[in-house]
Amino acid sequence: MADRTSAALSRLTLTDFRNYEHLDLAFSKPLIAFVGDNGIGKTNILEAISFLTAGRGLRRAPFADVGRVSGPGSWSVSTILNQNGDETRIGTGLTSGEAGRRVRIDGEDVRSSENLL
Ligand SMILES: Nc1ncnc2c1ncn2[C@@H]1O[C@H](COP(=O)(O)OP(=O)(O)OP(=O)(O)O)[C@@H](O)[C@H]1O
Ligand SMILES: [Mg+2]
Repeated sequence: MADRTSAALSRLTLTDFRNYEHLDLAFSKPLIAFVGDNGIGKTNILEAISFLTAGRGLRRAPFADVGRVSGPGSWSVSTILNQNGDETRIGTGLTSGEAGRRVRIDGEDVRSSENLL
């Protein structure tokens, strides 16, 4: 049987991401449900999490469209990831005016989101 790896987020922080100017969530349970009215921002949180791996995010939206309307144009998503007893800090986001998103793993800039794999 293939090795199975589980990863859990203990923290998720969004800045100027979709409808969130700032959101800071701490998770202490292994299973989390987001509940709320239509259009409140549940899928936006899942989209933010999807930027914690390689690629263009679950909506495949242009990075500039992900920034909060009436925000500065830049946006960021950061997390603390717990995996096999190790804690990894991941940050990603767009700097206003740039085409590609930046990715940082444990404080170090990496060349591409492929490093998140
Ligand atoms: N770039 C953006 N800046 C600000 N707000 C945005 C941006 N993109 C989307 N939104 C807002 O995000 C909201 C939609 O959020 P989301 O899709 O996460 O809702 P939801 O809770 O998943 O709703 P549903 O239950 O219908 O699936 C809308 O109010 C929309 O106006
Ligand atoms: Mg939704």
